[in-house]
Amino acid sequence: MAHIQKNITLSDEEEKIHVSKGSRRGWMDSDWTYDIKSNAISKLKIDIEEDLWNDLSDLVVQLEYKDFYSETLRLCEWPICDATSKLKEKFKVFDDDVARYVIMGQFADKHVFPHVDPVRSTSVYMPLLPRGNDYTPLELYYNNKIIGTPANDSPCVYAWNTKIPHAVYQFGMARYNVQVAINLPYNEFFEKYRELFDV
Ligand SMILES: [Fe+2]
Repeated sequence: MAHIQKNITLSDEEEKIHVSKGSRRGWMDSDWTYDIKSNAISKLKIDIEEDLWNDLSDLVVQLEYKDFYSETLRLCEWPICDATSKLKEKFKVFDDDVARYVIMGQFADKHVFPHVDPVRSTSVYMPLLPRGNDYTPLELYYNNKIIGTPANDSPCVYAWNTKIPHAVYQFGMARYNVQVAINLPYNEFFEKYRELFDV
């Protein structure tokens, strides 16, 4: 079809605004306010030694998983071994409220699009692999903000609200984390275990 096309012209300000962010993380709010921590996601004051983090990371690539959602996610229960026993000990305080201990894998270049979880309400969550920025963020869409977990540079435990829309865009390598599904709504979990929240 015959047509005439003009070049698009941007102002200096628009040129600055529309510069590439480089990655999903570039779009995210890194300032986790009290509102975010008490309603959406927070770090927990649970220390995990580097050795334990490494042992768990070695373990998860050797396990057998059940595939979910057309080979996007795969899931297994924690196997019985020294590393998971040590981790269970660290999470012992939550024993009364635990629904399930799982390891979640996500296939390389497979994305979990925005959704809310149909079953669990709160997840205690520790990223394992890959390390650094290759572990793409868990994204939560809360109160007109996009909140994402930081680069996976050191062992870190989070609690987050699975009833808030969330997604994971996993470009690159397969992704693994350890999760404890909790029966309590996030706000109740926050109140009950408040002293463990990094607020
Ligand atoms: Fe989910």
